[in-house]
Formats: sequence, structure tokens, C-alpha cells
Amino acid sequence: MKLAIGADHGGVNLKGGIIELLKSKGHEVTDFGACRLEPEDDYPDFAARVAGAVRSGQAERGILICGSGVGASVAANKFKGIRAAVCHDCFSAHQGVEDDDMNVICLGARIIGEEAAREVVERFVGARFSGAPRHLRRLNKVREMEKEFG
Ligand code: RB5
Repeated sequence: MKLAIGADHGGVNLKGGIIELLKSKGHEVTDFGACRLEPEDDYPDFAARVAGAVRSGQAERGILICGSGVGASVAANKFKGIRAAVCHDCFSAHQGVEDDDMNVICLGARIIGEEAAREVVERFVGARFSGAPRHLRRLNKVREMEKEFG
């Protein structure tokens, strides 16, 4: 799968291991930075790059890492077509895709450990939207909201 990843200073130390893991599983990963620990960088900048890659089709899904995952998800959800959520457990990571068609996962490196993060990300990329009529109906309602209130 083509994936986009980005992290601010709160998440940059976790990013390298996640990229390595994904590449070792055969995924194509585009790294949108940060390239080094820069305490003054801002999570919206990385959220914008990853969201842009997903919206354009350059990547099928995105992964954002900040300190808590919260800022990254708030920023990413400002972009039409992005369905981002903070997930620190495997159930949410796969069910968010299967039921809600989540296309960006957000992690908080100050909350989740490296091993748990790896498992969560693996469940996220391994999941597929079920397309079940009830989930499609709900997704379409979200899309309508985006049109009306976005
Ligand atoms: C940055 O210090 C921190 O606020 C950011 O990484 C993130 O946790 C925001 O939600």
C-alpha cells in the first residue's frame, strides 16, 4: 500500500521505526518529515502534507504522529475527504477502517510505546473498509455534512 507519514517534534522519534516496519512489510512509504528533532516545528504543517498526499491519491492512507495525536487529528480533519482519528489500541485501528473508512491514523508518541504503536499501525494498514450498507450510509452522511458545513 502507498502510505504517507509525518510527525512533529513530539512524534519524530517514533516515526523512523514505523517507516522501517512498513517498508519491511512491502509498503511504499513517503516521509513528509520532520527529518530531525526541531522543537519549534508545528504539527499542522505535517498534517497538511500528509492530508494532501491522501487527498491527491499519492497515498492511499496516512499516518501522523505528534505528542498526543490530538493536534494532528484536529488539523488533518480540516481537509475534505480526510477521516483521521487518534488510535492507541488495535481494535480502534482496524475497526476505524472497516466501519468508518478512516484514512489517516494519528498516534501520540508521548502516550503509546513503540511496540504497541507498531501493532496498531499494522492493524490499520491491514484493514479494509467493509462497504456494508449501514457503514456506507453513515459514511455518506458524513460526506453530506462535509459538503454542507465544511
Ligand atoms: C507539541 O509539543 C505537542 O503539543 C504536539 O506534538 C501534539 O501533542 C499536539 O497535539
